[in-house]
Amino acid sequence: MPNIDNSQFESKVALITGGNSGIGKETALAFAQRGANVVIAARREAESVETLDLITATGARAEFVKTDVSDEAQVEAMVAQAVKVFGRLDFAFNNAAITGNATPFDEYPREVWDQVISVNLTGTWLCMQSEIRHMKTNGGGSIVNTTSISAHRGSPNLPAYSVSKWGVIGMTKAAAKGYGRYGIRVNAVSPGHTETPMLGLNDGEERLNALIEQYPLGRIGQPNDIAEAVIWLSSDSASFITGVSLPVEGGIIA
Ligand SMILES: NC(=O)c1ccc[n+]([C@@H]2O[C@H](COP(=O)([O-])OP(=O)(O)OC[C@H]3O[C@@H](n4cnc5c(N)ncnc54)[C@H](O)[C@@H]3O)[C@@H](O)[C@H]2O)c1
Repeated sequence: MPNIDNSQFESKVALITGGNSGIGKETALAFAQRGANVVIAARREAESVETLDLITATGARAEFVKTDVSDEAQVEAMVAQAVKVFGRLDFAFNNAAITGNATPFDEYPREVWDQVISVNLTGTWLCMQSEIRHMKTNGGGSIVNTTSISAHRGSPNLPAYSVSKWGVIGMTKAAAKGYGRYGIRVNAVSPGHTETPMLGLNDGEERLNALIEQYPLGRIGQPNDIAEAVIWLSSDSASFITGVSLPVEGGIIA
């Protein structure tokens, strides 16, 4: 990544969904370390306290908004609260998601399908709608959505997850075309396996080593790998980039 002038983030406002864990938490910190004020939207307040403390320790201001991204009213309130507290919204990282239990395609339960689509696909759409409405009147902004390598290939036992992430790429491209003229850039990152609670690597070295073997770069991702890509896509260094899904995946889909 080229050097990024951190002064462009000072006093700006970044909203991060799922910002209390894994990739979202690391990205919240990355924005804060560059001087942005940060709004963390997540479902569980207790789990957000540590992240809020880490952010304020950098000197940045932080706000938690309890939000279920699949709930339209809560998403509207999330953006309204960010603007009320900090006066503006410059960067949004729509990152909250669930995987649903791995189940073969032909046995996949309808209720899990509905839940995963509701959070990952509809939730991201609702967030984008609210953010864009504000950014349109605010002179522009940058949105980054989280997809996955599951959106660049098939994941037979995670059909809803895979479909939702392919859909997020579609929404990213649609919104990029629709709102570029308002100064709004919309991009996505597609992480490979990344060491977070979602990956659930508590079952010993064997699974980790099996994953590592698939990676040309000889390791799986760390949350900071993704956070730095989000910062770059959000920054002026990427000012001519919109509508892309940037794979950050150690070469696994090469
Ligand atoms: N970890 C990986 O290997 C990996 C790989 C590819 C893509 N991703 C994507 O990265 C993103 C972050 O995942 P992570 O690995 O940091 O996992 P994580 O489980 O640590 O974080 C997910 C976050 O989303 C939040 N969340 C879930 N449902 C929500 C809802 N309805 N409303 C609000 N918040 C909700 C969780 O509370 C949590 O904060 C996700 O979009 C995930 O699909 C992760």
